[in-house]
Amino acid sequence: MNRRTTTLIAAVALTSGLALTGCSTDSSAGAAGATGTPELKVSGAFMPQPVMDMAGGFLTIKNDSATADKLTSVTSPISDDVQIHETKNQKMQQVKSFDIPANGELKLERGGSHIMFMALKQKPKQGDMVSIELHFEKSGPIKVDLPVEAATHNPKQH
Ligand code: CU
Repeated sequence: MNRRTTTLIAAVALTSGLALTGCSTDSSAGAAGATGTPELKVSGAFMPQPVMDMAGGFLTIKNDSATADKLTSVTSPISDDVQIHETKNQKMQQVKSFDIPANGELKLERGGSHIMFMALKQKPKQGDMVSIELHFEKSGPIKVDLPVEAATHNPKQH
């Protein structure tokens, strides 16, 4: 696609005889931007052992690229209804997506934004692993295993 566009511009420049100064520079910069893909890394993932039939999930997604992305949904075998929530004035509310800024990170942590597993099909216990798949606007899906920690586990307090 980009190659064809570049060829067309080159052809127009040749036949019209106009000196399109800076055009080739602009189009190559545009092509580089268009081919840039987010480079996402997930760390610090865990699920506190659920006490009810719902559970929270926490992790950090780091983006080592100049291209921003969005976390759009989460799926897991333990729930057919996995939501993403933000916390405002100590109340959770469902959101459609979370921004993952270019050269930045998205932090899902206790008291803040989080993954919410509704109507658990089974209740994982401390020491179990819960597999999830993160879905993004631009990046391909990423599979993550969440270790199940104590119900009160909070890495921020260490
Ligand atoms: Cu929630």
